[in-house]
Amino acid sequence: MAKPIAEKPSSWRLFCACALATENRGRKKLPISLAFGYLYYTVINRPDEAQSNACLMKMIDADAATELTIALQQIETEVVERASAIANLLDNKLENDATVDRLLAEVRNRVLSFSQFLLRMSAVNRESVDTGGMSKLLSDATRLRGDFNQWHAVEGLVRAQQNREPVPLYPEMKLEPIVLQQLKVSDDIIMGLQRLLNPIEQDAQAEGHGCYPDVGLPQSRFLRHLHAAYRVLLVQRRGLPKRFIDIGCGGGLKVLSAARFFDEAAGLEYDLGYVKSARELLRLDDHGMTEVIHGDALAFDDYGRFDVIYFFKPMNSPEKLEDLERRIIERSRPGTVLMAPYREFEVTASQLQCPKICGRLFLVGASPEEAAAVREQAMNTGLCIGPAPRSVAKTWAPILEVSRLKGFAMQPGFDAWAR
Ligand SMILES: C[S@@+](CC[C@H](N)C(=O)[O-])C[C@H]1O[C@@H](n2cnc3c(N)ncnc32)[C@H](O)[C@@H]1O
Repeated sequence: MAKPIAEKPSSWRLFCACALATENRGRKKLPISLAFGYLYYTVINRPDEAQSNACLMKMIDADAATELTIALQQIETEVVERASAIANLLDNKLENDATVDRLLAEVRNRVLSFSQFLLRMSAVNRESVDTGGMSKLLSDATRLRGDFNQWHAVEGLVRAQQNREPVPLYPEMKLEPIVLQQLKVSDDIIMGLQRLLNPIEQDAQAEGHGCYPDVGLPQSRFLRHLHAAYRVLLVQRRGLPKRFIDIGCGGGLKVLSAARFFDEAAGLEYDLGYVKSARELLRLDDHGMTEVIHGDALAFDDYGRFDVIYFFKPMNSPEKLEDLERRIIERSRPGTVLMAPYREFEVTASQLQCPKICGRLFLVGASPEEAAAVREQAMNTGLCIGPAPRSVAKTWAPILEVSRLKGFAMQPGFDAWAR
């Protein structure tokens, strides 16, 4: 509300009064009166009035700024409340509820009408308002405008979760021969790179211990299993951080890949030469938290720390391999996902209450029914991967976080890649 001010006669009114008074005294004196009035208007009264007008404008601008600040808070509160309500519904698997559509429409209206608010704000003379209040208003409005600019993508993210077809953990891939050919080249190149990145000969002592040399699983197959394992974790709603380990990580390429999916990715390796290569490689990458542990998997005690444990037939002695498999199962937490892409493991797994989920994934300490239930639920997760981004738009944070936990994310550039 405007503050009251002392009323002052306007120059124009004084000028007219002057002229009229003189008029009554006779026409002859009119020019003198007018001159007097003009003098009063320009010299005596004008500076005073300019001051008063400026003062009035300042107060009007200050009031407008206060009103705009309140209006901005209200817009933000209304949008944040609706965004949180949408996030809640998504979290409770109610993405197809009609309330989601209503809330989306309400947010959209507020976002679209925000330009009117910005117009009102631009009409305020910034110099008239105390700098603290105005700069806060400006920075809040700018932040909100930045958030609102993302609305289209956020709405798309919510829509992507509605009425979607289930996707199996290991979908039948009817790849065109041309794509298969390209995938094969890509795998060959990565295999070659693995040798370049870890050119070290296997250590004689590691060989004597029964270790296989660093021969990797083809990258495309690894990613297929890894992605499926990641989706199982989404179903389990494990707390953060999500941790992965490669038992016998060789030169560390799989750890590097897993760091794109998990908050923490580790490798355990017996051969010290390989350990050094892996550490060197991971130093070059800044994705996620990675570590390489030098040690013997047959004596390792920390399996319980990880959510996904990957091992690709690390040992060539069947007895030692079985010892290793048993140790992993016995020392990991119930619910841990084991990723073991070789047939022999199925025998050990079936003996130790470690049922298969699907493909090459196994669930520690679960019943076959529980493993089957996880497989079914995992079909409804999204396909996006990755740890939480370091910064997100505050307004949409609840929607983005819940979506990410379900495997949905805004992925700029992804569409361009698919084209
Ligand atoms: C077949 S390679 C797998 C490499 C990598 N995991 C991959 O999939 O690309 C086996 C690796 O396990 C390591 N290894 C074998 N036995 C081990 C043990 N007992 N403890 C730690 N590492 C071991 C070997 O040195 C070798 O680097």
